[in-house]
Amino acid sequence: MRVCAGLDRDGSYRLAVSITNVVRSTGPRQAGYVAARENVPVDENTPAPAPSYPAHPAGSADADLLTPYPVGLLLRGRRVVVVGGGHVAQRRVPTLIAAGAEVVVVSPEVTPAIEGLGEEITWLRRPFEEPDLDGAWYAIAATDSAVVNEAVTRAAEERRIFCVRSDDASHGTAWTPAVGRHDGVTVAVLSNREPRRSAALRDAVVEGMREGRIAARTSATHTPGVTLVGGGPGDPELITVAGRKALMEADVVVADRLAPRELLAELPADVELIDVAKLPRGRSAAQEEINRVIVEQALAGKRVARFKGGDNFVFGRGYEEIIACREAGVPVTVIPGLTSPVSVPGLAGVPVTHRGVTHEFTVISGHLPPGHPESLTNWTAVAQLRGTLVLMMAVENAPAIASALLVAGRDPGVPVAVICDGSMPTERTVLATLGTLADVLDREAVRPPAIIVVGEVVRVAHPDAF
Ligand SMILES: C[S@@+](CC[C@H](N)C(=O)[O-])C[C@H]1O[C@@H](n2cnc3c(N)ncnc32)[C@H](O)[C@@H]1O
Repeated sequence: MRVCAGLDRDGSYRLAVSITNVVRSTGPRQAGYVAARENVPVDENTPAPAPSYPAHPAGSADADLLTPYPVGLLLRGRRVVVVGGGHVAQRRVPTLIAAGAEVVVVSPEVTPAIEGLGEEITWLRRPFEEPDLDGAWYAIAATDSAVVNEAVTRAAEERRIFCVRSDDASHGTAWTPAVGRHDGVTVAVLSNREPRRSAALRDAVVEGMREGRIAARTSATHTPGVTLVGGGPGDPELITVAGRKALMEADVVVADRLAPRELLAELPADVELIDVAKLPRGRSAAQEEINRVIVEQALAGKRVARFKGGDNFVFGRGYEEIIACREAGVPVTVIPGLTSPVSVPGLAGVPVTHRGVTHEFTVISGHLPPGHPESLTNWTAVAQLRGTLVLMMAVENAPAIASALLVAGRDPGVPVAVICDGSMPTERTVLATLGTLADVLDREAVRPPAIIVVGEVVRVAHPDAF
């Protein structure tokens, strides 16, 4: 495998992967391998005829010994001749147009899609003639006739024009790679005429780039600042593609206790990890310290990923960090995460809404008990709601909350699901009613983190338990 990478003049990054199976010795197995692939087209959607004609001098019978030299052609304003108007041409012409080439299609007939390109191409509605290649920089022989394709490649060879031959790559002088693009980067994969393998590798590389598993950490787009990354409920698979990418591109990751920790193991070795779960002093002081750390790191020119569980703004104090950054003139971007009050019940099979059962769901922090002087929740009003209640940070105060709801008139038979360690290997669901919740939490030794779902949706999910 060969990997070529380079920066475009505009700063975008190019990566080319070339994979070649070089057959270096003969023997029954390798001879069969060569024969089996002799007519495999480089364009994966092109049917492979089995023409019998002499090998072209440039694409000798030893083509399996050739290693293609990967290169990016700059075709803007340059004549490119495509001979043939079928599906191979239909796949190639739009990318040639996108590259700015002056595309000439030579074919008595073309597909409706090519015809529809109108003035974006020149269509010579007739059979190929050798002078068609005069002045061309690049050619594609893509007819369904091996004789015509051979004539094109010969004429191209005489004019020193690189030519792709779609029915038999070994008889051309250029191969078309499987191409993917992401974020200003072009990925091109060339295998030894194994187009499906090339496409699969192309997909794997592009997917890795999209997910941030493959990242150009020296990218010219390095911009200092803070990115708030919501990590989802805990399973590393449940972070967003954008979130994973931001983590992999960061210089510093400032991580919470509930952020998906397995992702931290994937960070490149030179990424600094600041574990704010271990910051000393009380809760408020720790948040001030977090604000100070992310601002300080960003002002030092680093890309900071502030990595949290769930979503940044659902009891995540994310906006305090935004304010701190703004006050310091530090740019901030936000990548939302799957928030636990919705995703954790969902993973456990409990919907927070269900048609005909509830028209609302209310998410409440239970970190303060009812009646606490700093509580902002009107539990008497909450008890009047008929929809789903989702309680977070409420394990400790659940008995007091259940009691307040019962006193305010909520039915003790209302079903309750307590989902602990949602999305983690230790996930479990404990069922209760509002009337039995305190005893069940005690008996089952429930510990945070947990989401407590109160409402008829729990009966919908567990009809046999109530
Ligand atoms: C400080 S809040 C952070 C919430 C987070 N920002 C979010 O959007 O999910 C922490 C609380 O979220 C809930 N929580 C977060 N992740 C959880 C999980 N994987 N399983 C159960 N509860 C979870 C628990 O109620 C926990 O006490």
